[in-house]
Amino acid sequence: MSSTAESTSILRFTVSDRLEHIAQITTFVPLAVTGLVQRYAGSGLSQGIITLFGGIESVRIIHRVFAAILMVAVVYHLGAIGYRRFVLNIPRSMGPSLADLRAAGQTLAYNLRRRDSRPPQGRYTFEEKIEYWSLVWGTVLMVATGFLLWNPIAGAKILPGSFIPAARAAHGGEAVLAILAILVWHFYHVHLKHFNKSIFTGYMTLEEMESEHPLALTMEVADPPSQDELRHRRNRYVPLYSLGAFVLLIGIWLFVSFEDTAITTIEPLESPAVYAPIPTTTMPLATTTTMATTGSTLPSTTTTVIVIAEDLTWASIGPIFEAKCLMCHGATNQTAGLSLATFNDTIAGGNDGPGVVPGDPGTSMIVTIQEAGGHPGQLDANEIANLRAWIDAGAPEK
Ligand code: HEC
Repeated sequence: MSSTAESTSILRFTVSDRLEHIAQITTFVPLAVTGLVQRYAGSGLSQGIITLFGGIESVRIIHRVFAAILMVAVVYHLGAIGYRRFVLNIPRSMGPSLADLRAAGQTLAYNLRRRDSRPPQGRYTFEEKIEYWSLVWGTVLMVATGFLLWNPIAGAKILPGSFIPAARAAHGGEAVLAILAILVWHFYHVHLKHFNKSIFTGYMTLEEMESEHPLALTMEVADPPSQDELRHRRNRYVPLYSLGAFVLLIGIWLFVSFEDTAITTIEPLESPAVYAPIPTTTMPLATTTTMATTGSTLPSTTTTVIVIAEDLTWASIGPIFEAKCLMCHGATNQTAGLSLATFNDTIAGGNDGPGVVPGDPGTSMIVTIQEAGGHPGQLDANEIANLRAWIDAGAPEK
């Protein structure tokens, strides 16, 4: 190689390419930081960073802001590719080819010392293509899974709900993969192997080009299009692209503004209402004074101590229903048309008639259903006895 070659610089990246790279860095780094601390929120380091950002909710908002910027950068990138292809008519250089496969094999052979030089490669080496296409695939995956995480309610309307936790796992997994790829693959190939600054300066020396992209130098270059031709193509391309970009930007706007569900933290319920089928112990009512024997309908083998409360009113019966029945017979979810949420609802009963016939427990459906046993929400003997006693006494409200 001649020494004069050093002074010759060859344009490798246009200003637009360089700006895109800067946009990648300025979105990737904050996305990675605010994403990692959410994925590993349990670690002390993450907690420290979250506090630094002003809390988990600001972390989520920052993450979303940069995600939106990244998506806009993608729309720009599509435009830049199209411009190069359809206006400048520059041939494809990032497409994978068989030559890349061959170069990969030869590079492996070189690394194993079976070959004494690296294979000659074109404008983009196979290593660069792998990185580019991983980035493309990664971005598609992150945008798709990010959509589900950003809009979980809308997402669950289109897809099965199990896609949301799956999207969460994929989003975090791909993020870690991407970060490792940048730290290992990218840093090795562009910083360690040879410190390649061309993505910032735009230029490579002829020497560097000869050693890294020799085939790009020997490639036949078509005559540049005439000014007229260029103008003609641009006049066709720009409106078409603007239309496409407009549609995509509306899509992004919908993406980011559709729902704001997953920003605020919802505290877990203190004691969530769970359905407990049949309790093994009896639950004495609030006022437990009188011991009484009960009607003959109870199995004689029961060892339950029956305690009938004094002055039974809706005030003591209502809470039993609330604890054991309202999950199915509430005011808004009336299974079999029955609500046990209020006194009047309880008397009125469900699809098959009145629930309570005051003075006559034997024909009150609430009692008959419960005494038959095996109901999805089952009262115990003590509660049934109290229910009976209350109905016997005319089922007073107060
Ligand atoms: C896990 C859900 C569930 C719970 C809890 C539940 N039920 Fe039901 N209930 C049903 C279903 C389903 C039906 C309709 C089918 C049937 O009759 O078994 C029903 C029907 C009834 C009916 C008949 C209504 C009609 O008019 O047809 C009564 C009365 C009733 N339940 C009382 C109760 C009482 C009292 C409790 C609380 C101790 C209770 N249920 C708890 C699911 C539940």
